[in-house]
Formats: sequence, structure tokens, C-alpha cells
Amino acid sequence: MTPADLDAVTAVERASYSSGWPATAFAHEIEHNRLARYLVLEVGDDLVGFAGTWLMVDEAHVVTIAVRPDLRRAGYGRLLLHALILVARDAGMEAATLEVRVSNEAARALYRRYGFWDVGERKKYYQDNGEDAVIMTTEGFETPAFQERLAARAAELEERWPGCIAAARAALGIADAEDGPAA
Ligand SMILES: CC(C)(COP(=O)(O)OP(=O)(O)OC[C@H]1O[C@@H](n2cnc3c(N)ncnc32)[C@H](O)[C@@H]1OP(=O)(O)O)[C@@H](O)C(=O)NCCC(=O)NCCS
Repeated sequence: MTPADLDAVTAVERASYSSGWPATAFAHEIEHNRLARYLVLEVGDDLVGFAGTWLMVDEAHVVTIAVRPDLRRAGYGRLLLHALILVARDAGMEAATLEVRVSNEAARALYRRYGFWDVGERKKYYQDNGEDAVIMTTEGFETPAFQERLAARAAELEERWPGCIAAARAALGIADAEDGPAA
């Protein structure tokens, strides 16, 4: 994500969250938060969605993920989350965690596919409606179970968009020891 993306990012943000961030909040994140990594997914010239994480010591905190409403259920959310995990692993993170609204079944199902499971809750976490948050966490990125799951998710994405994982790694400057260099 760069400053040039912020108009399109905030359009997706407004369409996705009841109390979304303004452009200034994203600008602060990408320009001043050294822990933050924000990605955008583009198809041609169109911004399809974005995702962001904070790299906190050894754990990646998934801050946000959103896909344009008219393009949902096409696999873009999976591709974004996958890329975010690759970024987190590449930065040396050992696992990922997040909070999600109890009622957000779509996001919770997406996270479950990537091995996040419910580990707790934060009562009345969301200020707009007092909704509870579920805390979800992955097992260690380097465990055989997580690696197996990630490989299965990669295979699904590759079936849909051949070469997409290598392209994502190349775009993000990530080499993967198991699969050879990114570019
Ligand atoms: C969550 C979100 C990013 C998913 O994006 P997406 O592009 O639709 O996701 P995908 O197409 O990759 O779907 C991945 C999986 O998530 C689950 N999922 C996605 N939308 C779902 C829905 N409406 N109901 C149930 N499961 C859903 C499914 O398991 C799906 O896999 P499948 O289509 O093979 O069944 C999108 O719904 C969104 O932008 N929501 C608003 C913002 C938000 O709530 N973000 C999460 C904040 S914590």
C-alpha cells in the first residue's frame, strides 16, 4: 500500500466497515508505523482489496482485511490473507493472532481455513455497538500442521490463478527456501 492507493483503499474501507478508518489513519500507518505492513491486491488498474498486519515481537497481529463487496467470494480474501502470512513469516514472526466480531461469520470462516482457532474473547470490544470480539490464533508457522495447511491453501489458489503465489512473493520481495527464490 502506498499513498497513491489511499482513495481506493478508503472506498473499500467505507463499503466494508461500519466505523471505518479515514485515509489519514492509513497514511499514518504506512508512513509512520514501523511495525505495520499493508498490502493491496490489484486486478489490472482496480484495487480489489487490502490487508494489514502489525509485526509484534514474534507474533503477527492481523489488523484488517477487506475485499470490495462486489468481488467477494471469488478467493481474493484468501489470496490477501495468504500473502499477509507470507510477509509475516518472512519477517520472522512465529504465529498470527487477531480479533474479529462474534457476528462476522464470513471472516471467521476465512480465518478458520487458514488454521486460526478461537482462543478467547474480549467482551464489548467494539465501541460502535458493544459487540464482543473473538480472539483467534494460529499454531506456530513452522509446525508441520501449519505448513501442511498453508501448502494446501497455496495449491487451491494456484489452481484458480496459476503462478499467483510466486507472483505475490516476487511483488513482495519474499524468497521461500522450500520453493526457491521469489523471482
Ligand atoms: C472477510 C472478507 C475479507 C472475505 O473476502 P472474500 O474475498 O469474500 O473471501 P474469499 O472469497 O477468499 O473466501 C474465503 C472463504 O471465507 C469464507 N467466507 C467468505 N465469505 C463468506 C460468507 N459470506 N459466508 C460464509 N463464509 C464465507 C468461506 O470459507 C470462503 O471460502 P469458499 O468461498 O471457498 O467457501 C470479506 O467478506 C470482507 O471484506 N468483509 C468485510 C470486512 C471484514 O469484515 N473483514 C474482517 C475483519 S476482522
